[in-house]
Amino acid sequence: MLPKRKETADAAAQSFLPYGRQLIEEDDIAAVTQALKGDLLTTGPLVDRFEKTLAGIVGAAEAVACCNGTAALYMAARALGLGPGHTAVVPALTFLATASAPHLAGAEIVFADVDPETGLMRASDFEAALARAPRGRADAVFPVHYAGQSCDMAAISEIARAKETRIVEDAAHALGTLWLGEDGALLPVGANAHGDLTIFSFHPVKTIAMGEGGAVTANDPGLVRRLRLARNHEIVRAPDEFLRAREAFGEGGQANPWYYELHAPGFNFRVPDINCALGLSQLAKLARFVHLRRKLAEAYDEMLAPLAPLLRPLAREKRSATAWHLYPVRIDFAAAEIARGELMRMLASDGIGTQVHYVPVHRQPYYAARYGGLRLPGAEEFYAKTLSLPLHAGMSEDDVVRVAAALKRRLGL
Ligand SMILES: Cc1ncc(COP(=O)(O)O)c(C=O)c1O
Repeated sequence: MLPKRKETADAAAQSFLPYGRQLIEEDDIAAVTQALKGDLLTTGPLVDRFEKTLAGIVGAAEAVACCNGTAALYMAARALGLGPGHTAVVPALTFLATASAPHLAGAEIVFADVDPETGLMRASDFEAALARAPRGRADAVFPVHYAGQSCDMAAISEIARAKETRIVEDAAHALGTLWLGEDGALLPVGANAHGDLTIFSFHPVKTIAMGEGGAVTANDPGLVRRLRLARNHEIVRAPDEFLRAREAFGEGGQANPWYYELHAPGFNFRVPDINCALGLSQLAKLARFVHLRRKLAEAYDEMLAPLAPLLRPLAREKRSATAWHLYPVRIDFAAAEIARGELMRMLASDGIGTQVHYVPVHRQPYYAARYGGLRLPGAEEFYAKTLSLPLHAGMSEDDVVRVAAALKRRLGL
């Protein structure tokens, strides 16, 4: 059941409804306050607890928490050894960071198209991108579980395996999503059942909020070790890895207590204990938040159905048991005789926030100049039509009624 809220006649008089927002409750505040009384505000015991809890929820051997999803992507790229001379396939319909992170690690990006109905990269889109890549292969692929729906990882991983391409799932949108496997088993996104690494973001508009926060999940101990190095300046502290034995070890062969080594430069991507206190408190509510988001998506589906074919919800990937992060709709703006910007401004004046996810990354001036006039019709068609409506766990059914009514009125239906 979704909560109801008292309706007022004047929609604009109600508080502004953003497209995404955190839901912070008293126990979240208490958890953070408690963390502030601890000895360690940066890397303390809550980081470890957060990592273990997250890994348990998504069914991964380990999770490495970090300061945001962008850092998680960069750490993943570094852990896989991506660098100059390497190639990574990234779907064009994503947030910039999915491409920027492997690119800043040194790789060149080959953008893949997406399904114009779901916004997801299909196996065929991945194959077409590989055909455009140097030597017809890539070192890594970063499938994005757009809006929370899972890509068909079984199909994507089959191609990746044949080409020795490593897989980093960008699940910034998909904490809590499950994939229905061939054998009927439900596989959580993050378990890496079909890939090497999965990244998450805990930005306040995501399914759980940590202020800023991110994580990478992995099953391979070697990758976990490299992720932990990448999080902390690439500083090596394990004595068996030291290269300078004479400096590293003192009398009796013991490692000198102050000593550490750098074998490659890195950044500080650590996450504070304070954020993990919030993250842990929020993870305990994940099932409720996912349920609320699903119910809100169902309410939208029902209330927006009469607006078809002018406005249609995202097509569904049937094997994805989706934890919805976004509720994007596809609008035929030409047929509606309204510009998207105009509709967004009108809805804002009705007290309703909307957003466009995303300007396809290959069209950004930096990548367009670097990789030339690439055309990706699926991503471009999706971009031309999409508009994300408000969706967050603090919303009520009345909020959905209000958004649907405003859309109907503003589209002249
Ligand atoms: C698909 C995707 N990947 C990566 C990120 C980066 O996450 P963060 O904002 O935590 O750095 C985001 C965040 O918006 C995202 O939507």
